[in-house]
Formats: sequence, structure tokens, C-alpha cells
Amino acid sequence: MRILILSDIHANLAALEAVLTDAQSFEYEAVWCLGDIVGYGPEPEECVARVRSLKPRAVVGNHDWAVIGRMDAEDFNVEARRVVLWTRQRLSAISLNWLSNLPHEPIVEGDFTLTHGSPRDPVWEYVVYPAVAAANLAHFQTPFCLVGHTHVPNLFVFAAGSQHKVNAMRVRPGQPIALEKANRAILNPGSVGQPRDSDPRAAYAILDTERSTWLPRRAPYPIEVTQAHMRAAGLPERLINRLDFGW
Ligand SMILES: [Fe+2]
Repeated sequence: MRILILSDIHANLAALEAVLTDAQSFEYEAVWCLGDIVGYGPEPEECVARVRSLKPRAVVGNHDWAVIGRMDAEDFNVEARRVVLWTRQRLSAISLNWLSNLPHEPIVEGDFTLTHGSPRDPVWEYVVYPAVAAANLAHFQTPFCLVGHTHVPNLFVFAAGSQHKVNAMRVRPGQPIALEKANRAILNPGSVGQPRDSDPRAAYAILDTERSTWLPRRAPYPIEVTQAHMRAAGLPERLINRLDFGW
């Protein structure tokens, strides 16, 4: 089965549509979403509606949580907080309710655990370093764990039988990675709507559970359209500009 893996869409509809168009040729049969559907971007209602229509298996992200009032927006920096409060006013009751029902705890699908931040701290922890990845190994039981939150596509592979030998690998778009159950791994598809690896294109992944491959993908999208919508909505200039740089 091929599965479309989305994370950190962040209310960027142009990026989401570009990913869905790019992914069409893979004829995926399911969608998994690793959280942060809203926050930062100008189209929260449209993005929640679009994601809902895909009937995904999904977990909640920290921005989603803040928007539905499950955590204090004070925990965010001043610009992110502004957008959280702005987003809250723009979501329909249906969308707020749907976000409210997303699980906070990791969910398991076959050989994969799905979470936003990390299996140890599902909403907040960033798996950015091998040491953090290694510390999380005991917190999921499946061979593989899928995370988002950092907005950087990468993977951490554990040498079989070792809790401490972790190889951190950057991924190359279009180059499939073979998954081997003996070598457990934490994989991150990157961010659809606000990439932070200096590549401004939307990031996602295609998981093929029959071939046991993970295919990182990038899709160009009209960044200027998202930026124009952000400007029209009065969203913070720094958040508008960073989309140009993928940072
Ligand atoms: Fe995020």
C-alpha cells in the first residue's frame, strides 16, 4: 500500500494543493498527517477542510493545540502567537471540532508509530539530534516512528541491537530509502507549508509498505500567492518573507 505522508501544512493552501497534485501519480491509498495543519499561514479553514476530505489518520500538532485552546498561546513567540489568535477567529465550528478530536498521543499503524514531535513528548519535543532520537527509542514499540515538528526532512537510523548508535541522514528528494525492520528508524517528511531546510519547495513523503520504501518528495508551489494572502490578512512580515528562503 502506498501512503501519502503530510506534516506541518501550516495553513498554506497553495503548498498543500501542489503536494496533492504532485502525489497523484503515486496512486496512494491512504493519507497520514503528522499535525500542525494550521498556524503561520493564511488559509486555515481551507486547509482543515481539504485535509478532512482526505480522511487521514492524523495526530494533533502544537499549533493546532494552541488554536483550539488546549494550551496557552503564551508558549509561542510573539509572531506565532498573533497568528494563533488570528486563526482561532477564522475556523468554522466544524473545523475546530475536528481539530479538537485529533489524538495527542502517538497512534500506531502497522509497523509505524505516528506522532507530531516525538514519541516521548508528542506535541513539543523536536527530534533534531541523534542523541534526542536515541533517547526516544524506548518510547515506541514499532520498527519505525514518523515525526514532524522540525520542518526538516531527515531520518535517524538505529544500528540493529544498539540503543546508542544512531546515524542521522539528510534525505534527497526523489531518492527512495529502503526501510529494514532490523534497523529501527525515526523518519520526518519535512513541512508542506513552511520548510526550514533552505529549500522553499513543499516537502512530503510517499511510504510504500509493500516495497518497504520511503520516498522524500519536493513540490514547487506559487509562494507569491501564499505571501499575497498573508499580506492581505495582515500577518507578520517575517513569516511572509521566510517562505522565500525555506527557513
Ligand atoms: Fe510546525
